Amino acid sequence: MAVAPVTTLALIQARLQSTRLPGKVLETLGDRPVLAWVVRAAQAIPGVDRVAIATSTEAPDDAIVAWAEKSGIPVYRGSEKDVLRRFADAASQDGADIIMRLTADCPLLDPAVAGMVLRLLKSTGADYASNVDPATWPDGLDCEAFTRHALLIADREAARPSEREHVTPFIRANRARFKVEALVNPIPGETAERWTLDTPEDLAFLRGVVAELGSDTIPPYGAVLELLHQKPSLREVGKRQQRNEGYVDSVNLDPVISYGYTRSDALLKSALEIIPVGNQTFSKSYLQLPNGAAPLFLTHGQGGRVWDVDGNEYVDMVSGLLPIVLGYRDPDVDYAIRGQLTRGISFSLATSLEQELARVLRDIIPSAEMARFGKNGTDATSAAIRMARGFTGRERIIACGYHGWQDWYVGATARKRGVPAAVQELTTMVPYNDLDAFETAFLAHPGEVACVIMETMNVAEPKPGFLQGVKDLAHQHGALLVFDEIITGFRFALGGAQSLFGVTPDLSCFGKAMANGMPLSAVVGRRDVMMEMEKIFISGTFGGEALSLAASLATIEKLKREAVIPKLWSLGEELTQDVRALVTKHGLDGIFALTGAAPWMLLVINDHPKVRKEAIKTMFLTEMLARGILMNASHNVCWAHDATDMARMRQAWDGALGVVAQEIAGGALIEHLKAPIIEPIFKVR
Ligand SMILES: Cc1ncc(COP(=O)(O)O)c(C=O)c1O
Repeated sequence: MAVAPVTTLALIQARLQSTRLPGKVLETLGDRPVLAWVVRAAQAIPGVDRVAIATSTEAPDDAIVAWAEKSGIPVYRGSEKDVLRRFADAASQDGADIIMRLTADCPLLDPAVAGMVLRLLKSTGADYASNVDPATWPDGLDCEAFTRHALLIADREAARPSEREHVTPFIRANRARFKVEALVNPIPGETAERWTLDTPEDLAFLRGVVAELGSDTIPPYGAVLELLHQKPSLREVGKRQQRNEGYVDSVNLDPVISYGYTRSDALLKSALEIIPVGNQTFSKSYLQLPNGAAPLFLTHGQGGRVWDVDGNEYVDMVSGLLPIVLGYRDPDVDYAIRGQLTRGISFSLATSLEQELARVLRDIIPSAEMARFGKNGTDATSAAIRMARGFTGRERIIACGYHGWQDWYVGATARKRGVPAAVQELTTMVPYNDLDAFETAFLAHPGEVACVIMETMNVAEPKPGFLQGVKDLAHQHGALLVFDEIITGFRFALGGAQSLFGVTPDLSCFGKAMANGMPLSAVVGRRDVMMEMEKIFISGTFGGEALSLAASLATIEKLKREAVIPKLWSLGEELTQDVRALVTKHGLDGIFALTGAAPWMLLVINDHPKVRKEAIKTMFLTEMLARGILMNASHNVCWAHDATDMARMRQAWDGALGVVAQEIAGGALIEHLKAPIIEPIFKVR
C-alpha cells in the first residue's frame, strides 16, 4: 500500500505594525521588499512543498495581503495577539502534516540551514525541531518545524498569553509529551550576530550587506559571515538589541498559570515501583517537597529556569542543589562539552585535561598545591578523611556541617542506620562558631583526632578569629584542618571561602559548581598531605572522565571572564533585602528569616506559637510553586538569573507570605495544607 507523502508548509508570520519600524516587512531591501526575501528563501528550503503567509486581521495588514495576492502567495489571516490560533487555523485549512514557522523579519534566512531543521524533524520523528532553542545561530536564521498534530494540541491547551502570542512555547515547554530536537550550530560565538529587522539601524545594516552581496541570489549564511569578517564595520549599526526582545517583554508580564502536577504524580507512582525513594537524592524527592502539590520531575532548563513534565515553568532557586552556577545550557560550557564529545568521554589512560585543571585550581585556591578528582562531593570529603587518617596515623574525626553520605560522616547523624557502631563512634559533631566545643572534642580524645572537617561557612558568618582558632587548635593537637568547600567553592569566591576569610586549611574539598552541572569534585591541599595518596588507596574508574574536566575548565574560565561571582553576591543581596522587607510587611518577622551569605542564603522558618515550622514550610513551598518558583531551603542564585526572574521571585514571595500570614491568623493552616507536612531527613546545619 502506498504511504501518503508527508507535506510541509512554510508559514511566514508577518505584520506591518511595529513600534520601532512601522511597515518594516514591506521596506525595500536591494531589488525587492523584505517579505519577498523571506518568501524566496522559504521556497528554496529543501523539503518545503508550499509557502504561505500568516498575518493579522488588522487593517494595516491589508497591505501584506495585497502584496501576497499580487505575488501569488496564499495568505491566511487571524488574530493579532493569538498567533497560535492564527497558525493552527492556517495549518488546518492548508492540511500540511508539517509546518515550518518562519518570520518575515528574517530576510537573510538560509534555506540550507532551515532545510536541516526540517530534515532533523523528519529523520528523528520529532514533534518539533528548531535552531532557536538553544540559541546558537546568528539571530535572523530562526526557523522552527513542527507537526500539525503538535500545533493543534498546543492551540487547544495553551493558556498563558505568551504561549498564544509566540506559537511554540507550549510545545517546547511540554517535553514529556512532545519530542523536541535542536539543530545546534557547531561554530561557537555566532549568537552575537544580529541579522533580524526590528529597527532603522537593522535596516541600514541589512541594506549594507545586500549592497555588497547583491539581490540576485539567496546569500548562504556563510557568505554573510565572511563578508562581515572582511568588513566588520558593517556590523556596527545593528548590534544593540537583545535577542528576541519581544519574547522577554511578554514573559515579563505573563501571569503564572499552573497546569497542575498530574504527570509528576503519575511518574512518582511508577518510579516508586522500581526506584527506592523515587529518585537519587533525598532533597529532590517527594519526601522533601509538598507531595501532590509540587513538580517531581523536570524535562529541561534554560538559564535560570526549568520546566516540569506537566509543562509548568519555574524560576529555579535550587540550581540542581547548587552545581548550576552559570545557568542551564550555558553556551560556553556546552560548547566545551561538545568539543570533548568529539574526542571521547572516558579513556583507558589519563588525559592531559587532569593536570590542566589541577594547575588552574592551584592558581586560584590558596590551599591547592596538588589536586585529585572525583565525581560526587562525597568522593572528595572521604578522600580527605582517608588522607588525614593516613597522614596522622589517627582515626577520630571532628566534623562540623554536612559532608556527604559515607559511613564516617553519616554515622554521626540521626540517620545512622546501617553504619557500624565502631565507625559511628569515631566522628564527633560540633557546632559552628563554638571554639570551646572544638576544644572539648579534642580534649575528649587527646592525640587521637586525625582532622577537623568543616564547612567553611553555612548559615552563620564565622565569628572574628573563629576559623583561625580552629586551625590553631587542630594543629596544636597534631590534627589537620579540612575545609569542605563543596558549596562555597566557585560561589563565594573564585578561591573558595578560604580566600575570602584568609584562612588556609591543609586540605579542601570542592564539587557542585566547579563544572556547572557536570559531575566533578576535587580534593586539593598541601603537597606532603596529598602525597599520602601514593600510600593509601583511592582510585575510581571515572575520576578522569573527560567531559566533566573540559566542562570545569570552561566554567572556571567563564567565572573569571564574566565576573560571575560578583553578580551572585549582588543578585543574592538584592533578593535578600526585598524578601526581608516582604517578611516585615506581612508581619512574619521571627517566623521567616534568611541567613548566610548572599550567593547562598538559607531560609530559616521558626515555629509559630500555634503552628509548627514544618507545616508553615510546607504551605510556603506549595504557594511558591504555584507562583512559578522552584525552591527548597535556600536562594541558590545563578549567573543567568535576570531581572525578570527576580521580579517573579519578589511577586511570589509577596503572594506566598500573604497566604501563610492569613492562614496563621485564621488558625487553620494545617487543615488547609494541600500536601502532607514535610519532615526533615535530619538536621545538619
Ligand atoms: C557542604 C557539602 N559537603 C559535601 C556534600 C556532598 O556532596 P555530594 O552530594 O556531591 O556527594 C554536600 C552535598 O550537598 C555539601 O553540601
